[in-house]
Amino acid sequence: MRALLLALAAFLGGVLLGASSYRARLVLADLRAALPGPLAPVWAPHCANIYAGGQLTPVFDAGQLPPAQHPVPGLTHLTLHGRKAHGMKGLELWISTLAPGTGTPIHRHDCEEVLLVLRGEGVAAMQDKDGTVVETKLGPNSTLAVLPNARHQLRNDGSRDLHFIAAIDNPPFRPCLYRSWEDPYLACQSVWPMVWDRSCPDKAPQPLPHHVVLSGSKGATAEM
Ligand SMILES: *[C@@H]1O[C@H](CO)[C@@H](O)[C@H](O)[C@H]1NC(C)=O
Repeated sequence: MRALLLALAAFLGGVLLGASSYRARLVLADLRAALPGPLAPVWAPHCANIYAGGQLTPVFDAGQLPPAQHPVPGLTHLTLHGRKAHGMKGLELWISTLAPGTGTPIHRHDCEEVLLVLRGEGVAAMQDKDGTVVETKLGPNSTLAVLPNARHQLRNDGSRDLHFIAAIDNPPFRPCLYRSWEDPYLACQSVWPMVWDRSCPDKAPQPLPHHVVLSGSKGATAEM
């Protein structure tokens, strides 16, 4: 019953919004169509077995990791630490780049997300509860907090790459994609597992060359 009311509310919202004639510049018409193969879950708990002896190196050089292949043009994504790659349970940290003139699909997800822009300029578009799409300019050091299930999009309208780091809770990441802001709330395309969670890295990341284990003192850390 609640779902039905939500669907009705979302539909009416969509009709009202349609009249506002606001049209998002969709960079990607349909991510699903661009995805290779069916969306059958290929989830494995994590890839920690690629690490020597099953031990995860907690410190490594992010520059050594290959960015994930991604069907969204202009978006590169790298999970620095996460559920799929490392068996992290509560959070993931990503580093991503959007090329000029590109953007993420309009989407929502059931996790919280926080972002920090490292370099470049862009726009965060967020839809209010009443359907209004609010756009905010982002630049170096801009932060952005995305609440669970808020419909949003990130775009790079600048002339250079937009680099940002993002953290999410409650992995794995389960986005639901929209074609437009006017789509009814429930009319999104779920993508799970997320593209970059579908395979393990080919090789373990290199530990930093200067990364040495300093001698520990007993009792300084909790027993694991
Ligand atoms: C970003 O913030 C940090 C911390 O306050 C500061 O050191 C740095 O200079 C800032 N960078 C820019 C581009 O404003």
